[in-house]
Amino acid sequence: MSVDSLLHVASPLAGSLTPVHAADHAHGWWRSAVIYQVYPRSFRDLNGDGIGDLAGITAELPQLAELDIDAVWLSPFYRSPQRDAGYDVSDYCDVDPLFGKLGDFDGLIAEANRLSLRVIVDLVPNHCSDQHRDFQAALAAGAGSPERDMFIFRDGTGPAGEQPPNNWQSHFGGSAWTRITEPDGEPGQWYLHLFDSSQPDFNWDNRAVHHEFERVLRFWLDRGVSGFRVDVAHALVKAPGLPAWGGRADGSSSDGFPGHEAPMFGQPALHDIYRAWRRILEEYGPDRILCAEANVDPLPRLADWVRPDEMHQAFNFPYLHAGLDLHRLRTIVTESLTSLDAVGAPSTWVLSNHDVVRHATRFGYGWSGPREGDGIGPADPQPDHALGRSRAAAASLFMLGLPGGAYLYQGEELGLPDGIDIPGHQRQDPTFTRTGGTRLGRDGCRVPLPWRASERHNGFGDGVHPWLPQPESFTELARDAQAADPSSHLNLYRRILAARRELGLGRGSLSWAEEWCTGSSLAFLNGDVLVVMNMGTESLELPAGEVLLRSSSADRELADGWHGISSGETVWLRISAEDSES
Ligand code: GLC
Ligand code: CA
Repeated sequence: MSVDSLLHVASPLAGSLTPVHAADHAHGWWRSAVIYQVYPRSFRDLNGDGIGDLAGITAELPQLAELDIDAVWLSPFYRSPQRDAGYDVSDYCDVDPLFGKLGDFDGLIAEANRLSLRVIVDLVPNHCSDQHRDFQAALAAGAGSPERDMFIFRDGTGPAGEQPPNNWQSHFGGSAWTRITEPDGEPGQWYLHLFDSSQPDFNWDNRAVHHEFERVLRFWLDRGVSGFRVDVAHALVKAPGLPAWGGRADGSSSDGFPGHEAPMFGQPALHDIYRAWRRILEEYGPDRILCAEANVDPLPRLADWVRPDEMHQAFNFPYLHAGLDLHRLRTIVTESLTSLDAVGAPSTWVLSNHDVVRHATRFGYGWSGPREGDGIGPADPQPDHALGRSRAAAASLFMLGLPGGAYLYQGEELGLPDGIDIPGHQRQDPTFTRTGGTRLGRDGCRVPLPWRASERHNGFGDGVHPWLPQPESFTELARDAQAADPSSHLNLYRRILAARRELGLGRGSLSWAEEWCTGSSLAFLNGDVLVVMNMGTESLELPAGEVLLRSSSADRELADGWHGISSGETVWLRISAEDSES
């Protein structure tokens, strides 16, 4: 059913409802799952070297299970020189010594199984590390060799080949091409890297690359993972001839270059790769999933990624980028649900991850914070942290009422802000160095977590200083301090996640409740739960019903019987049949 053909129906609530999405009865745990992203470097450091490790994750897993999540997704912990925090993989089938050993991974899976948590791992198929044995072999083998054909090598342009083969830009700044020195010591060919120069792109026109990744999938499936989050899934295949293109390599349409025309994104041949992977997962049963990190523009095209024989889920970046712009949010929720319904796939929702400024910090600015991948430093305008945290609670309560799956980023349940006072010499994101410090990069959202307020480094680890400094506020925001405070952000998340499961909201329906969609407020009905977010300056009166949850810690049910929602707040309200009839 197209959105245009949906009628406004009279509702038991005052005003009308605009139905968008019906309840979901299909099989699949992932259709309504809450998946929690663990960023291993910054989760918990058990051996005291200042960097998080797999044993640290295993040790704290019970605290995540308590949150009532379904699965954890682990960002890369594979062998890697760590030039892009592990997204530069030198061996896909081993654990980097920084994080432990393969046995530690098996221990983590065993503990997750005990706690009924699933584990999803990150697959990075677009590029590897320049230290990967295949890239080293390609360098040694010379132009035109099968070894070089695993990657995208080209001769340069200009009289002596001294100019890059084309004008493509790296996502992290600068040219997407780097020239090598040939084995004979002469300047030679160039290789493509959409990200850092230490991350050469694979050549997915070569079947040998397909075989290699099918082996990697099986390796981790055999070890018990429930699936894969597929890194930059939209970029693997490049348009034939590598035609010139002037946009940024992240495909950002803000520069006036629509992402769907980019020759390095969304090429049709991608879909056959994911169909083949889907068949491999299905050999292991119906419960293993693929989730695309695919920045696809416009949003309805995302449906092509989650057709019944392709991936199970795709990240919803338009939702993340909508921030608190209620008009955009409504459009994106409607478009997500209707376009994904058309292929029988659930939507996902997300507010934070390891590549963007945390939403508790973004929302401490007007309506939009800094650009994706550009962090905040001490010299920038500063966010209002209290405002940011309270709006973050409102936005999370809204998101977790939506039908579909949701992704959480470690520390958002604590309302953590970004690290801002990070000295340049401690910043490790390649964006910082590749742009000469003009873009600060993504370290701010990667600061190590605070677990226990009274311990060294707030309980992240009891050895050397964490790899990035923790802001002072991390002590009062530490997990144990919040666990003891009923009105804390953490306890709000616990209540939200428990209620979401109990009420079955992830499998629920969605109709816009027009009466409370005023422009500065947005509201939908999911089953018998009305979710209202009020971003206006005035309070609003609510219809009759039982208030299930409020994002604001203060109890605003006033003694005189006023039954409303304050400015900046989100509320879940159960509309009972009795109330509906009145
Ligand atoms: C993805 C990851 C990001 C990484 C990039 C290159 O966007 O989320 O952290 O830098 O891919 O692998
Ligand atoms: Ca460690």
